[in-house]
Amino acid sequence: MKIKEIYNLAIKIGIEADFRGKEEIERMLKRLKEKYEKMEPDEKEEFDLERLKNPFSDTRILFGNPQKEVKKVLVGIDVDGEELLLAEKLDDIDLVISHHPRGKALAGLDDVMQLQVDVLAKYGVPVNIAEKLLKKRIEEVARGIAPVNHNRAVDMARHLDLPFLCIHTPCDNLAAKFADEKLKKDNPVLIEEITKSLKEIPEYREAIAIGAGPRIFVGEKENRAGKIVITGMTGGTEGSPEIYEKLAQAGAGTVVGMHISEKHREEAEKANINVVIAGHISSDSLGVNLFLDELEKRGIKIIPCSGLIRVPRISK
Ligand SMILES: [Fe+2]
Repeated sequence: MKIKEIYNLAIKIGIEADFRGKEEIERMLKRLKEKYEKMEPDEKEEFDLERLKNPFSDTRILFGNPQKEVKKVLVGIDVDGEELLLAEKLDDIDLVISHHPRGKALAGLDDVMQLQVDVLAKYGVPVNIAEKLLKKRIEEVARGIAPVNHNRAVDMARHLDLPFLCIHTPCDNLAAKFADEKLKKDNPVLIEEITKSLKEIPEYREAIAIGAGPRIFVGEKENRAGKIVITGMTGGTEGSPEIYEKLAQAGAGTVVGMHISEKHREEAEKANINVVIAGHISSDSLGVNLFLDELEKRGIKIIPCSGLIRVPRISK
């Protein structure tokens, strides 16, 4: 496969697994195209044209010739200089893939958070409220990213002449969809049944062995789970802390996420919402694995690194 084909496949699979649905994403891309066409020439010049085809601002080819043929990839949850030097030391690595965004994909992380508006709306929060609360948080995230030295790893890739790609939200979408389907199938009544269901997923089982398994952050084992909502698995990064009260009003019982800050945990507790944290790197691994299976099926050899718990599901 060529680098470009891997990138296009990530977008395609990411859209198919997206909570917003293919139609809504197509509508979104169409609206953006219309906006682009009306832009002034100087605005057009600054506009990232990839955005017209790729709805995931945190997924980009960061360095390398897109036409290059790939046989072996080094894949990590976080790829920085160390992992790129590792790629150089290992033999025949054609491409390095990072899950967490780097370079311009990190600079665009805030944009992909729009997805959370639709996720919350899907769970019954009025879309206008979700939009207003998220807007505040998205601006905060954008300001937070601004001072980061986001091109550091990309510079390193350039010096080492190593093609470099990052795939974030498409993989998180796959993890969220997988967890959603698993929990719907198992239909847990108590909170402990949620953790039990998650622990059946190999990535979470392996995470237990290294002290990072699924955990209850708010609520007791024997508490009733109520309506389960998966709000913190995809959509860039943590959303607004004010959303828990709105989720409670919309009938949510337990939130399942990858990770949660103390501020969010407190707000969930205040709103009487239970919280189950599946685990960050293990959830990231789950989503990345579901994508890597597609590469492996197409004959690409995968070398995991940087926290990636590789579990193939090739028969799928
Ligand atoms: Fe992550």
